[in-house]
Amino acid sequence: MIVYDAIVRKRDTRSFADRPVPDDVLDRILQAGRMAGSARAAEPVRLVVLRDADRRAELAACGNSTTHMLSAPLVIALVLVPEFGQVGAPFTLFRGPFDAGRAAQNMMLAAWEEGISSCPASMHDEAAAAQVLALPAGHYVANVIAFGYPEGADPTTGTRPRMAAAEYIHWESW
Ligand SMILES: Cc1cc2nc3c(=O)[nH]c(=O)nc-3n(C[C@H](O)[C@H](O)[C@H](O)COP(=O)(O)O)c2cc1C
Repeated sequence: MIVYDAIVRKRDTRSFADRPVPDDVLDRILQAGRMAGSARAAEPVRLVVLRDADRRAELAACGNSTTHMLSAPLVIALVLVPEFGQVGAPFTLFRGPFDAGRAAQNMMLAAWEEGISSCPASMHDEAAAAQVLALPAGHYVANVIAFGYPEGADPTTGTRPRMAAAEYIHWESW
């Protein structure tokens, strides 16, 4: 798959087939996340992998728009270690979530190359999510990604339109 095509055709999918993600594919998805760069090479991101349906449901209860976590056979939580999440100094506060976003997109694109679609799931009750995952003190769930083979319509169709390029892109100054 051409990288550019993978990026522009990938759309977030919330309906998944009852088909597990093979272990070798999971290994590549996790490796794609691990290889993401991070500011000052601090590597503040950790991953928690959930495949058990009950565990996925427990974590899904911590967000307001998470039903896709129930049908997804694979859920990966991106965790930030202390000082890179909410409890950090201003600079680290910003760079931690950026680093988590890089790891998330790496994993989503690596999965997409394997025919696996995905969609983030925000944890609106952050404290509850940390408790479900048994995170050590100060650790913070940056976001959660649900993965699975798409079910139903072509996952590249029915996409939300993006704003016009002229609005999105500014040249030399705003
Ligand atoms: C940080 C972040 C959090 C998100 N949280 C949720 C969520 O809680 N539930 C959900 O269904 N989608 C969530 N999404 C998915 C967005 O709704 C999706 O990226 C957007 O609708 C664009 O979708 P498209 O790429 O398929 O056009 C989240 C996306 C991001 C980047």
